[in-house]
Amino acid sequence: MNPYLAGNFAPVTEEITATGLAVSGELPKELNGRYLRNGPNPLGNTDAAAYHWFTGTGMVHGLRLREGRAEWYRNRYVGGDAVAKALGKPPVTGPNWSGGAHGPNTNVAGFAGRTWAVVEAGGTPVELTYELDTVARNDFFGTLPGAFTAHPKFDSASGELHAVAYAPGRWMGHVQYIVVGKDGRVRRTVDIPMGPSMVHDMSLTEKYAVIYDLPVTLDMKMAQAGSRFPFSWNPDYGARVGFLPREGIAQDMIWIEIPLCYAYHPMNAYDRADGSVVIDICAFDRMFDHDRNGPIRDSLPRLERWEFDIAGRRSSVTVIDQTPQEFPRHAPAVGTREYRYGYAVGFGTHPAGMTFKHDLVTGARTHYDYGPGRGAGESVFVPRESGGAEDDGWLLAFAHDFGGGPSSFVVLDAQDVARGPVAEVHLPQRVPFGFHGNWVSDASVPPAPA
Ligand SMILES: [Fe+2]
Repeated sequence: MNPYLAGNFAPVTEEITATGLAVSGELPKELNGRYLRNGPNPLGNTDAAAYHWFTGTGMVHGLRLREGRAEWYRNRYVGGDAVAKALGKPPVTGPNWSGGAHGPNTNVAGFAGRTWAVVEAGGTPVELTYELDTVARNDFFGTLPGAFTAHPKFDSASGELHAVAYAPGRWMGHVQYIVVGKDGRVRRTVDIPMGPSMVHDMSLTEKYAVIYDLPVTLDMKMAQAGSRFPFSWNPDYGARVGFLPREGIAQDMIWIEIPLCYAYHPMNAYDRADGSVVIDICAFDRMFDHDRNGPIRDSLPRLERWEFDIAGRRSSVTVIDQTPQEFPRHAPAVGTREYRYGYAVGFGTHPAGMTFKHDLVTGARTHYDYGPGRGAGESVFVPRESGGAEDDGWLLAFAHDFGGGPSSFVVLDAQDVARGPVAEVHLPQRVPFGFHGNWVSDASVPPAPA
């Protein structure tokens, strides 16, 4: 049995629109916009033995909030040729750099006044309407040379997006650092020579774009056997982190070795006054060593602090929290800066789905436990408009029944996570486990005029 198709991993089959949703508690009236989350939702007959969780067809689930009401829930496949064919929808227009048949399944965000679904490894971003229907593939209006990523970093100081993209099979000797201007056009790219490792995320500090070159690499045997996700654990490759000065060229890269591990998601990264760099990150001992269907059966991730002496080319690793956890986030305002609070989700069998809040100054951790068989996905921090403190805001997430029962949308007070949801929206259908989401305010991406 493939665990990534069972219980709440199982796909849903209907695209639903539901309005006027039931709410327990009180939704904050100033949350006007959409909470969106992308994830895999395999379509049609799936070869269970071969299925890899990272390859399922993308589906975005979204909730529109307005003036304290939950106006609608929608779920929509992200457009791709496979979905169009299977559902008899019109073909998706726009450039398709990788030639892939599936829409992006990993992240969804607002940027440059539009809504984008994104994925790593070569898929072109797909633009969505306010109501989550597919508009077209969009390569940033013809300015993206090739691949993009599921984890661009938004730089609130400049309004730009920074990304590190890789493309197995297409770009064999390099990855690409990309800066997208706030007008949604690519302003700058730098090709960085690098081996064929899986580059899921990046970090951004005020000085550097940070590239993770870790020992999960393209596996030619798997590729030749037709795997849609041909990557495996390769400890001989080594592990290193690269620092590119923000406006630097490839020759300016500084590489520093770290102990063998794999990491998907940094919580945050920042420069210290002495020139060193701090990265807080969820790290696994091994990844895709034995488990070839997904990320949870080889090892479990802990929260670590990686510190880099850039001048001395040295690194050190300390464990912040050994408890298995993933999907780390922070308040948007503290991205690239020294910060105090991070949020994460319990991972693995226990404490699966608990929402964690870390005070990185005192080392204290608080949590909320959704009860047996229930837990939340990634928490998205939304600051209170009048807020001043770093943690003055809300955490938004979908909460799941692991066995496949009903899902809900929860709002936690980030200053009092242990209290549990201040509001819960009861959803008309199950939301399968997925990857990443964001809050897209109506101010940043307005609804189309009626
Ligand atoms: Fe991710």
